Amino acid sequence: MLSASSLLTASLGAGPFFKVPAAEPRLPDDPGQPAVLVPIRSIGPGERERIARHLLDLDLHDRFLRFGYAASDEQVRHYVDSLDFERDEIFGIYNRRLEIIAMAHLAFPPADQPIDCAEFGGSVSKQVRGRGYGARLFDRVIVTARNEGIGMLFIHALSENAAMLKIARKAGATVARTGSEAEAHLQLPKADFDSRMAEIALDNFGEIDFQLKARAMQFWGFLHRMQAIRRGARSTTEHTES
Ligand SMILES: CC(C)(COP(=O)(O)OP(=O)(O)OC[C@H]1O[C@@H](n2cnc3c(N)ncnc32)[C@H](O)[C@@H]1OP(=O)(O)O)[C@@H](O)C(=O)NCCC(=O)NCCS
Repeated sequence: MLSASSLLTASLGAGPFFKVPAAEPRLPDDPGQPAVLVPIRSIGPGERERIARHLLDLDLHDRFLRFGYAASDEQVRHYVDSLDFERDEIFGIYNRRLEIIAMAHLAFPPADQPIDCAEFGGSVSKQVRGRGYGARLFDRVIVTARNEGIGMLFIHALSENAAMLKIARKAGATVARTGSEAEAHLQLPKADFDSRMAEIALDNFGEIDFQLKARAMQFWGFLHRMQAIRRGARSTTEHTES
C-alpha cells in the first residue's frame, strides 16, 4: 500500500508533471497561465479500439507527421493491431467520455537485443493541442524509460514538425536535421529513488482519474435512463388523463 509520505515524495520527484499545463490552447512562445494537472494512464491491450479511434481521427498530414508517411486507415489499423503491450508502453490522456485525446508510444527494442535505446512516438488530438499535453506525455515516457534502464531515447520527426522538435529540445535532446527529416536523441540519467517513486505516483494519479471518469460516465448513463423512464411515465399519464 502506498503511504501518503511516499506519494508526497514521489510528487516532489515528479518534476515537470506538476508544472501544470494550460487548460486553453496557448500560442507558441506564450508562457500562459497554467491551470490543471494532466493525468496520464498506461493503456492496456483491451483498449485497441480506443487507440484506433484516436489515430483514425488524425488527418492525413498529422498521420504523415506521426508515422513518417500518410498512413491509410488500413495502415493505422495494422499499426494498432500490432502494438506489443508486453514489450512496449503506451500512455494516454482521456477526456470525460474516456476517449483518448493524446497518446504516446514508448517502443523498446526486442528482448533478444541488448540495446539500451527506445523510441518515442506520440500524437495529440487537434482540438486539444497547444495545452502542454504533448510535452507532458514526453516527460511521462522519460520516467518509465529511465526506470526500464533505457539510456537513450530517440525521436524521429520531420524537420517541419516544430512542436515535436521543441518538446524534444526543451527536454535536452540533441536534434540532427537531414533535409526534410530530423533525428533527435536524448540521453537519460539512470533510474533513482525519485524516478521510481514518481512512476508509482503518476500511475496512481492516472488510474484514479480514469476510474473516477468511468464512474461519472456510469452515473450519467443511469440518470439519462431514469429521465427517459420518467418522461415515458409522464406521457403515458397525460395520454390516459386526456
Ligand atoms: C507534436 C504534437 C504531439 C505536440 O502536441 P501538443 O500537445 O500540441 O504540444 P504542447 O502543447 O506540449 O507544445 C509543446 C511546445 O511546442 C510549441 N508548439 C505547439 N505547436 C506549435 C507550432 N505549431 N509551432 C511551433 N511551436 C509549437 C508549444 O508552444 C510548446 O512550447 P512551450 O513549451 O515553449 O510552450 C502534436 O502537434 C501532434 O500530435 N502532431 C501530429 C503528430 C505528430 O507530429 N507526432 C509527433 C511525431 S513523433
